[in-house]
Amino acid sequence: THTTVAVVGGGPAGLLLARLLHQAGIDCVVLEHRDRTYVEQRQRAGILEQGTVDALRACGAAERLDREGLVHDGVELRWNRRSHRIDFPSLTGGRRVWVYAQTEVVKDLVALQLADGPPLLFKAEVTAVTGADTEHPVVQYTHQGRSRTLTCDYVVGCDGFHGVVRKAVPEGQLQTFERVYPYSWFGVLADIPPSCDELIYAHSPRGFALHSMRSPTVSRLYLQVPNGTDPATWSDKQIWDELEERFAVDGDWKLRRGPITQRAVLPMRSFVTEPMRWGRILLAGDAAHIVPPTGAKGLNLAVSDVVVLARAFTERASTGSTAGLNAYSDTCLQRVWRAEHFSWFMTTTTHTAPEHSGFETRLQLAYLDRIAASSHAAAELAENYAGLPIG
Ligand code: FAD
Ligand code: DHB
Repeated sequence: THTTVAVVGGGPAGLLLARLLHQAGIDCVVLEHRDRTYVEQRQRAGILEQGTVDALRACGAAERLDREGLVHDGVELRWNRRSHRIDFPSLTGGRRVWVYAQTEVVKDLVALQLADGPPLLFKAEVTAVTGADTEHPVVQYTHQGRSRTLTCDYVVGCDGFHGVVRKAVPEGQLQTFERVYPYSWFGVLADIPPSCDELIYAHSPRGFALHSMRSPTVSRLYLQVPNGTDPATWSDKQIWDELEERFAVDGDWKLRRGPITQRAVLPMRSFVTEPMRWGRILLAGDAAHIVPPTGAKGLNLAVSDVVVLARAFTERASTGSTAGLNAYSDTCLQRVWRAEHFSWFMTTTTHTAPEHSGFETRLQLAYLDRIAASSHAAAELAENYAGLPIG
């Protein structure tokens, strides 16, 4: 079979791209390695920028988001037992963020796709991409125990960091930039109403902690831990005790404890591929770049990539021009590097590296004090966190 765009990977990037192409009348096929339950349950990001919400609304995928998503107008920073709130709308000309989990975004997009969209195949593992330097690349995949072939005009790799599409580009054609951090995040999900109305990012002598949420009854919390930490070796009590220490603040705030229902340790890296295209292969989302999670940018970057890409495919379909496709990588990389810088900054300003001396710690505290003292410094954080408009 032949399709215009072969989309490899049914995470947020691949699913949203398929909807946008479908809206523009461009045919595509989405090939997803895992089964539906797996992709819908995979616990990941929780914060949607204004631009992400706008994109989901524009393609009719925001009905439940608009009902159940929690609008947040700010975040709280904690350090030295004090706290400071960053107000987004007043510092950014009205921008804000939504708490709505990636699992829910994926469920909503899958439901729409299965109802009226182009084909979305689960348990379809792409094994090879060839002919990307010709007009008709070929995607090989296995489905229902059989080996199959899909020819197309373009292949979009939305297959995440460990995907196969980036690896199909010949050696030497792409440049990569990478940093692996000397700490990980221990993330837990707990059946307890959040102890805060807005997210708390905490710097502490014992390391970073983040209080987030999934709903008015479910809390999501993260602790900085050494790389290689086995989550099974921590008792629930140890986790709550450690969180309590790191969120400690003067005043009468209290951390609520409840049953922990999920736990996992995630390594942290920064990674960028340049360019995000080779021949008729285009890369989008985590397949092209990774950020450490502290700035909540990973999912939002995946969305902005595919918004730019869908526009370029739409231009090609309606005018025959490939100008947008040719500009795709440059257009995205500008935003990608801004997000890389912000994510690196949020991470290194709030985490304690093993090699840190008192010098680095005092620099971190000096910058956090600066954010509290200056609306300019606070606005810089707010603009980046709430996200810049998409192109
Ligand atoms: P993915 O969601 O990774 O989707 C890629 C899809 O491709 C997957 O469904 C995969 O099964 C499929 N695939 C892979 N190989 C093949 C193949 N050969 N054939 C077919 N399909 C294939 N971001 C935040 O902002 N905050 C967070 O707290 C946060 N936590 C995270 C925790 C983890 C463990 C990870 C991995 C990421 C986290 N992120 C977080 C980042 C965010 O979730 C990602 O940026 C986002 O998922 C990117 O979407 P994507 O569609 O590009 O990639
Ligand atoms: C969440 C994850 C993040 O990385 C972040 O910065 C904020 C919230 C979350 O999973 O809720």
